[in-house]
Amino acid sequence: MGFVIKPAEEWDVPAIVDITNAAVRSTTALWVSTPYSYEERLRWFRQRKDEGWPVLVAHESGQVLGFGSYGPFRAYEGYARTVEHSVYVDAGARKRGIGRALLEALTEEASRQAMHVMVGAITANNIASVALHEQCGFVKGGVLPQVGLKFGNWLDLLFMYRVLT
Ligand SMILES: CC(C)(COP(=O)(O)OP(=O)(O)OC[C@H]1O[C@@H](n2cnc3c(N)ncnc32)[C@H](O)[C@@H]1OP(=O)(O)O)[C@@H](O)C(=O)NCCC(=O)NCCS
Repeated sequence: MGFVIKPAEEWDVPAIVDITNAAVRSTTALWVSTPYSYEERLRWFRQRKDEGWPVLVAHESGQVLGFGSYGPFRAYEGYARTVEHSVYVDAGARKRGIGRALLEALTEEASRQAMHVMVGAITANNIASVALHEQCGFVKGGVLPQVGLKFGNWLDLLFMYRVLT
């Protein structure tokens, strides 16, 4: 395997920025067109930590190969035990089981935090992400057609969820 999954530290944030911005620039995995600044991602990281939500990284030989996190699904009291997660793996490190290890670690942490449901909001044609989620026990909840726009194309949003025991 070679990599380890562990909680992210502030010094991991520049790598998190790079991995996120590569996906911003060349994929429709996230519906953002403006690359994140270091300061924005640091604020996000600190907020996650302050609120008690995990940010995990996959490390190998001191290098960050991927990260995953979850936080509130929606900001109303009734959703308090539902979280929405995301997982990103560096393009050069894919298909090595890192995405799966990150998602499984997030799922374990969510169970430990007594969360009840995890939701992934996935671009419907993201074959890799759909397959990864299926492998980790997530099922398709539904599709909102054409709710996103990137690179001049309408995008469908697929919700995949897993009810935790
Ligand atoms: C989706 C992503 C996180 C997968 O990470 P990864 O480390 O490559 O995934 P893994 O190696 O752990 O693969 C786990 C399973 O996912 C599926 N999978 C991964 N990449 C795939 C691909 N390109 N095509 C089809 N299935 C794929 C396979 O079922 C795989 O299991 P297998 O290797 O036993 O066949 C990665 O492709 C990525 O970061 N993509 C860009 C960002 C993104 O889409 N994030 C998800 C946003 S919801």
